[in-house]
Amino acid sequence: MNPSSDEWRRLIEEIMKCRKCPLYKYRRNPVPGEGSLETDIMFVGEAPGAREDETGRPFVGSAGKLLTKLLEGIGIRRKDVFITNIVKCRPPRNRDPTDEEINACLPYLIRQIKLIKPRVIVALGRHAARVLFRISGLRWENMSRMHGRGYDAYIDNIHVKIYPTYHPAAALYYPKLLPVLEEDFNKLKDIITRVRRDKTSKKTILDYF
Ligand code: URA
Ligand code: SF4
Repeated sequence: MNPSSDEWRRLIEEIMKCRKCPLYKYRRNPVPGEGSLETDIMFVGEAPGAREDETGRPFVGSAGKLLTKLLEGIGIRRKDVFITNIVKCRPPRNRDPTDEEINACLPYLIRQIKLIKPRVIVALGRHAARVLFRISGLRWENMSRMHGRGYDAYIDNIHVKIYPTYHPAAALYYPKLLPVLEEDFNKLKDIITRVRRDKTSKKTILDYF
C-alpha cells in the first residue's frame, strides 16, 4: 500500500474527532474533503454549509451543484479533482469563520496539500484566496483585480499555482458574475490541459503561465 495512505487515514481520523476550535460544538459532521488523491488540481472553498454539514461531503448544496456544473462544462469530473474547504466544520448560521478558527484548521489543509502535491489550487472565493495567499507569503488585493490568473506560490516547499476565482455562491447571488466565473473556468481548462499534456516532459509548471 502507498505509504501516504496511512497518513491520509490518520489525517481524516484527526479531522473527524477534532476539537481544536469552537466549531466542533455546532457541527453535525466534519467535512474533510473528497475526490482524487492523485490529482493535479485542488479546489478550496470557505467552509461547509448546511447540506455539507448534514452529509459530511463538500460542495453538495446549491453552490456545490453549480461547481459540479462548471467542472462538467470544462470536461472535468468531480471525482478526478480534490475538493475541500479552508475550515472543515460548519460555522453556525453560515457566518464567516473567524481568524482563530481558520488558523486552528489550517494545518489540515496544509497536510492535504503536502499529500496531494497539486500543480494548481483553485481558490473559490475571497476567503479561500486571502488565506492561501497569506500562507504563501503573497499579497492579496481583491477578487475583481486578481481572479482568473495563476499565481506562483510555495506552500510548505511545494510549488503550486494559486488560481483565484469567484465563489459559486456569489454567482448564484449576483447572476452577472456567472459568465465571469464560466470564463475563469475556461481559462482554467487551458492551464489544466497544458499541465497534463506536459506532465512527463521536462517543462516545469513555471512554463505554463
Ligand atoms: N460553500 C463552501 O465554501 N464550501 C462548501 O463546501 C459548500 C459551500
Ligand atoms: Fe477542528 Fe477545523 Fe473543525 Fe475547528 S473547524 S473543530 S479546527 S476540524
